Amino acid sequence: MKINSNNLHQVLQAIRDYAADKENDAERYVLAEHLSMAAYPKFKFSEFGRIFLEDEEFLSYYQSIMDPENWHSLDRKYVMSQTLNLVTNLPGDFVECGVYKGATALLLCRVAQGAGRSVHLFDSFEGLPEPGSNDGDYWKAGSFAAGSKPTEEILASFSCHRIYKGWIPDRFAEAGDEPVAFVHIDVDLFQPTWDSLEYFYPRLSPGGIVLFDDYGFLSCPGAKKAVDDFFADKPEQIVSLSTGQALVQKLF
Ligand SMILES: C[S@@+](CC[C@H](N)C(=O)[O-])C[C@H]1O[C@@H](n2cnc3c(N)ncnc32)[C@H](O)[C@@H]1O
Repeated sequence: MKINSNNLHQVLQAIRDYAADKENDAERYVLAEHLSMAAYPKFKFSEFGRIFLEDEEFLSYYQSIMDPENWHSLDRKYVMSQTLNLVTNLPGDFVECGVYKGATALLLCRVAQGAGRSVHLFDSFEGLPEPGSNDGDYWKAGSFAAGSKPTEEILASFSCHRIYKGWIPDRFAEAGDEPVAFVHIDVDLFQPTWDSLEYFYPRLSPGGIVLFDDYGFLSCPGAKKAVDDFFADKPEQIVSLSTGQALVQKLF
C-alpha cells in the first residue's frame, strides 16, 4: 500500500484502531516503537512505564500552559521541576533569563512563594535579538515575541516575582544583592547566554544550580558555545542531559 498525504488520515485512523485492540499499554508501546523506528530510526525510544508520564498533577500543570498536542517540552519542564529540589535547603533567590509566556516562571514561583524567595524574571518580551555569528541560521530576530501580558496573567496569583522587561543584561543590576540559588537560562543565543552567566554565576550560592534549557539543541549552537567557553576556566563540570538541557552546580 502506498501512503501519501491524501490517505495519511485513514492510515493513522487504522493504526489507532489497531492499537486500541491491543491487550495493554505495554503492547501499544511496542507498536509505537516499531512505527517510530520505521518513520524516524534516529529517534530512540526509552523504557516503557516511566512514572513521570503518570504524574497527573504535573501533566495537568503542563496542559494548562501549553498549546494542545504540544508535548515537546514536557520532559524539560519535568527535569526543571525536579532540579529545583536540589536547592531546597540553599539560601537565595531564583532567576530566569528568557521567560516567553511564563511557563517555566510558573514552576519557579510555585516553589519560591512558599519558601519566601524572590523570583527575578528577565525578558525583552519582544523576542530574540539579531542572532550573532555563533548562532547558526535557525533563529530570527523577533522569534518568541509575546509581550509581557501572558506572563503577567499566568503569574497573577503570586506575589514573589518581579518582571524586568528589557534587553539582557541591561536590567540585571535591579535584582539587588541577595545571593541566588537557582538560575534558569533559556535564551537560545550566544550573547544573552554569556551575559546571563557572567552576571549571575558570581552571585550563585555554593551548591546553587544553573539550568540551561537549550544547550543540547542543534538549533542553538551559540547557547552551547557560551556555556562551554564560560566554564572552560572554571572548576565546575557541565552535565549535558538527554532532554537537551544542561546543568551546572556551583562548587564554592
Ligand atoms: C525559548 S523562550 C523562553 C521560554 C520559557 N523559558 C519557557 O520555557 O516557557 C526565549 C526567550 O528569551 C528571550 N530573549 C532572548 N534573548 C534575549 C535578550 N538578549 N534580552 C532579553 N530577552 C531575550 C526571548 O524574548 C524569549 O522570550
